[in-house]
Amino acid sequence: MYKFPKDSKLNNPEFIFGVATASYQIEGSTNVDDRCESIWDTFCATPGMVYKQHNGDVACNHYNLYEQDVDLIASLNVDAYRLSIAWPRIIKEDGSVNQKGLDFYDRLISALEKKNITVMATLYHWDLPQYLEDKGGWLNRETSIKFVEYADVVSKYFGDRIGFYVTLNEPWCSAFHGYRYGIHAPGIADEASGFLACHNLLLAHGMAMPILRKNAKKSKHGIVLNFTPNYPVDESSIEAAKFADDEHTHWFIKPIMEGKYPESVYQQFIDYMPTIEVNDMAIISEKIDFLGVNFYSRSMVTNGRQGKVSDTILKKLERAEIRILESDDVLEDETKAEQLQKLMNQKESHYLSVDLQDVERTHIGWEVYPKALLRLLTDLHRIYKLPPVYITENGAAVDDHVVDGVVDDEQRYRYYQNHLLMIHEAIKMGVDVRGYFAWSLMDNFEWAEGYKMRFGIVYVDYETQERTLKKSAIKFKEFLNARKKGLL
Ligand code: FCB
Repeated sequence: MYKFPKDSKLNNPEFIFGVATASYQIEGSTNVDDRCESIWDTFCATPGMVYKQHNGDVACNHYNLYEQDVDLIASLNVDAYRLSIAWPRIIKEDGSVNQKGLDFYDRLISALEKKNITVMATLYHWDLPQYLEDKGGWLNRETSIKFVEYADVVSKYFGDRIGFYVTLNEPWCSAFHGYRYGIHAPGIADEASGFLACHNLLLAHGMAMPILRKNAKKSKHGIVLNFTPNYPVDESSIEAAKFADDEHTHWFIKPIMEGKYPESVYQQFIDYMPTIEVNDMAIISEKIDFLGVNFYSRSMVTNGRQGKVSDTILKKLERAEIRILESDDVLEDETKAEQLQKLMNQKESHYLSVDLQDVERTHIGWEVYPKALLRLLTDLHRIYKLPPVYITENGAAVDDHVVDGVVDDEQRYRYYQNHLLMIHEAIKMGVDVRGYFAWSLMDNFEWAEGYKMRFGIVYVDYETQERTLKKSAIKFKEFLNARKKGLL
């Protein structure tokens, strides 16, 4: 089982342990109970965007197997479950509420309540209704208002039964992967679109906060951001790494905590900046009750053109190029040539991500570097006046196999042990971390990587839908059982 020093807060039942998933990645049943199409249905159906053109049509069939999945969650002895609610199941195209969608989450939440499992629900984990994308998606300020209406419906209906409401999961991914690099739905590769989508997403978050507070007074309300700290490869790259942090970390957290975008990035991308209306920054910086931190890895950054451009970045740019060349739905007022030019500028940008040689990586290619989590938490704590922090995602992709009924995911349980130790250290250094959610409860649809990447602590056989606890899960189960019994 996982082990921490005797005095560790992690050994105290007040520290929440949970597992996490997201609607499109596990539910399946995309065509039932009047669910609308989401941008991920469309994106998956577009050739070349998702590994082997996999999609979420069936996924883990959780929509039908939710009862057995709740039993599975309970069997791990966890305190909480982080799920996401699918907007396309809740609000129909004409704006009316789909009761059948609410009923599904009602059944799921009731099952969790029976097992005494606290619910953390993310309202937007990337599955935007396609009918909203057809009107511009996150490039249209109206979408932020639609999000507030949806958040109002859900929080009025479930109120305090949901202990933690998360407005958005990783707006960096929605905005930059979705609208700037074009590698996630809706697949737009355009600098200005990326920044505009970001602004509208953050507005949606800020505008929803007071509504959530009013409808669920006893619940906690916050947002989940993803962090991949940038490290310089050498002394000449220190400034470059700092800029990369401004662009990818502070661009998202600073407006929320301080009502400002980082000036360095604003100036660098001045031609691509969205219009910011008078009250916007005050809305975005509405106080949050908690910050959700998703952490997987770090990124190495070099100044200028030394070193090799990282494969991940190259892959992103290549996909974006193909998308621009092949599609007709790029922004109307720009030629493809202009868009390609922008991409080229990105390649020539004054910093580059590089891949270090001879370091441990997970199956998805991300470096294993737990110390970056400690540094991230202490840095954020030093720079901002943070509310309580929950690690809302952390985990590893491993090329798992069931051998004689056993999945020995050694790399993953080592990953968990070492990252949890860093959280223990961060708490000792004064960071108020209150909980931890492993990504993910079970293997699932890993976005552009399809079913190739397995992040679960539970193995899913997609042919039979059989679930098998991996060793990493058994270690959680044992640790949490010992903790419950006061044996630590
Ligand atoms: C995060 C996403 C989550 C999952 C993990 C691996 O960016 O929030 O849905 O895909 O990465």
